[in-house]
Amino acid sequence: MRLAISTGGGDAPGLNAVIRAAVLSAVHRGWECLGIKRGFGSLLGEGELMPLGPNEVRGITHLGGTILGTSSRGNPLKWRMQRPDGSWEERDRTQELLDAFRDNRLDALIAIGGDGTLGIALQLWKKGLPVVGVPKTIDNDVGATVATFGFDTAVSTATDAIDKLHSTAESHERVIVVEVMGRNAGFIALNSGLAGSADVILIPEIPFDIDKVCDKIRRREAEGRHFSIVVVAEGAVAKGGTVSLVDPAHERLGGIADKIAHSIEQMTGKETRSLVLGHLQRGGGPTTFDRLLALRFGAAAVRLVAEQRFGMMVALQPPRIVSVPIAEALATPRRVPVDSDSVATARDLGVSFGD
Ligand code: F6P
Repeated sequence: MRLAISTGGGDAPGLNAVIRAAVLSAVHRGWECLGIKRGFGSLLGEGELMPLGPNEVRGITHLGGTILGTSSRGNPLKWRMQRPDGSWEERDRTQELLDAFRDNRLDALIAIGGDGTLGIALQLWKKGLPVVGVPKTIDNDVGATVATFGFDTAVSTATDAIDKLHSTAESHERVIVVEVMGRNAGFIALNSGLAGSADVILIPEIPFDIDKVCDKIRRREAEGRHFSIVVVAEGAVAKGGTVSLVDPAHERLGGIADKIAHSIEQMTGKETRSLVLGHLQRGGGPTTFDRLLALRFGAAAVRLVAEQRFGMMVALQPPRIVSVPIAEALATPRRVPVDSDSVATARDLGVSFGD
């Protein structure tokens, strides 16, 4: 058995732990492992496959990033290529990838990624490639699994940042608006905002009204609390509005914190600052929770390969790691249920969702 492993899309803390667990579990069975570099790059003419054995995965469980490299722009089904005149075209390179897979005598692929990479994995499986998926993303928005690894670390980093913002906001009697990642899911904002005692949390699942946000800040002011912390998910939207994009061509979200800060300053007269936590949330080593989840996912993925259960994805359905069809996981992306107890807890604690 020659097992290929790839990491695609944005990196997330815990990728290396999955790779280590998968490689050791495979070697334990007498299999050979090869890493595909930069997403699917090594199968599309971008460098060689990377032999993976115990030496290559030694001491990487606690390291952030991925030893294989990754890419968010490497979709073989829609490969973007620049024409000589500078314009772009999209090309389907699936057949090239399938040929390279066969030419390298690979028998199975473990694809570690979020909805984008898992979507590619599903299409490749439909074209005959034996693939097993492992859900990864700090956004926690993959369906059929209670958690993806990377999320807990990102929430921890964001909470830490919010904790630190409290003292400076209070000292200067300012409003600070902090933008966190999550794409169209509000899990990072909700969990870090709640844990970090934010006064306002804005998430994509609950469209906000800026008047309500300002009301909350004014109420605090009247109660003698001259500072406020607003945590906003990058995908949050005002009622009747649209998401804020920094790069519409690639649908890159961002910029909402700045817009909200400007409105708050205009409407309340309070000095307001904004910051974007950005890729800090994807960096650093995984928390213990994420390490364990990643190790369990990696080993479970190899068990699925051993049982030839292709087209499936490992998932956390506590207390067990189970397997679900990749198609099922992608059918319903996870979003914050607005009737969840976390939302109810935040409301009970006086947090405003701007609704
Ligand atoms: O999906 C993970 C994520 O970090 C999102 O939260 C964010 O919107 C996006 O990736 C950023 O992507 P990039 O690394 O391309 O800037």
